[in-house]
Amino acid sequence: IADLNFLKALPKAELHLHIEGSLEPELMFELSKRNNIEIPFSSVDEIQAAYKFHNLQSFLDIYYQGASVLIHEQDFYDLTMAYLKRCREDNVVHTEIFFDPQTHTERGIDIGVVIGGINKALCDANNDWGISSHLILCFLRHLSEDEAIDTLEIAKPYLGLIKGVGLDSSELGHPPSKFQKVFAMAKELGLERVAHAGEEGPTEYIVEALDLLDVSRIDHGVRCVEDEALIERLKQDNIPLTVCPLSNTALCVYDDMSQHPILSLLDRGLCVTVNTDDPAYFGGYVNKNYLALSESLNMSKEQAKKLALNSFKASYISETEKQKWA
Ligand code: HPA
Ligand code: ZN
Repeated sequence: IADLNFLKALPKAELHLHIEGSLEPELMFELSKRNNIEIPFSSVDEIQAAYKFHNLQSFLDIYYQGASVLIHEQDFYDLTMAYLKRCREDNVVHTEIFFDPQTHTERGIDIGVVIGGINKALCDANNDWGISSHLILCFLRHLSEDEAIDTLEIAKPYLGLIKGVGLDSSELGHPPSKFQKVFAMAKELGLERVAHAGEEGPTEYIVEALDLLDVSRIDHGVRCVEDEALIERLKQDNIPLTVCPLSNTALCVYDDMSQHPILSLLDRGLCVTVNTDDPAYFGGYVNKNYLALSESLNMSKEQAKKLALNSFKASYISETEKQKWA
């Protein structure tokens, strides 16, 4: 069984991390004071006590509320730097970071402030610690496609800093088909495409993301287990899944980690990877997610190595970079 020391020593990439979901209660509290933003909690303990979720939406409500303390470029820098420190501790040497511009522009924050702060931290971590990264701009799927198109438009001056687009927030009732136009525009602009699908939503949403949005990765995707033909397609077409074990148990996708299908999908030859999603809310960073698989699913060292290798294979680093980790 792969123990913590073994897992720590493995170089890893993270491919499914919402930077707003890395806002730890301590920093949330500090920023609420620094920026004079009211949050409905009077202590770090009260914040932590509120983190009991029963589905995706019950989490999202608290997650968007938490993000309201982020105002200045320095706040986005501090948020991102705190996450990158955890990458360093966990031997995560490459990370592909989601951010939700609409969560901030809706509050009157300029997208340049958001991207500027995040990017400065990414540059510092690259220079100081050799951690490489890409940024992925996510559209909030509970909002309209027109609003997603507006967001892509205001991001145009910053496209040099953005690798791709993604789709997140409330999945049920907001199928990928709703965003066909904006994903076609993103493709035209040379951006990579990913989408959350098959976390709470049905297998049809995974198929739509592939057919209509032309994505090259699926975020979560765990409900593919319900459709044999889809599993075969994901395997044949080499579509990676960015799986988030501790997120799935925190949001009650599975009652217990022992029910998680990630290792059986791995053994069936799918390119599954291990990620944190929203580590400040779901109880742990990358190594803790790997460790949970060892503890609950008896993950072997070979399986852990394969998962770490998959994280580089599934990433958007260059083929020469990939050789380094092969
Ligand atoms: N699913 C959808 N939207 C999200 C998530 C998630 O797991 N985390 C942050 N936004
Ligand atoms: Zn996610």
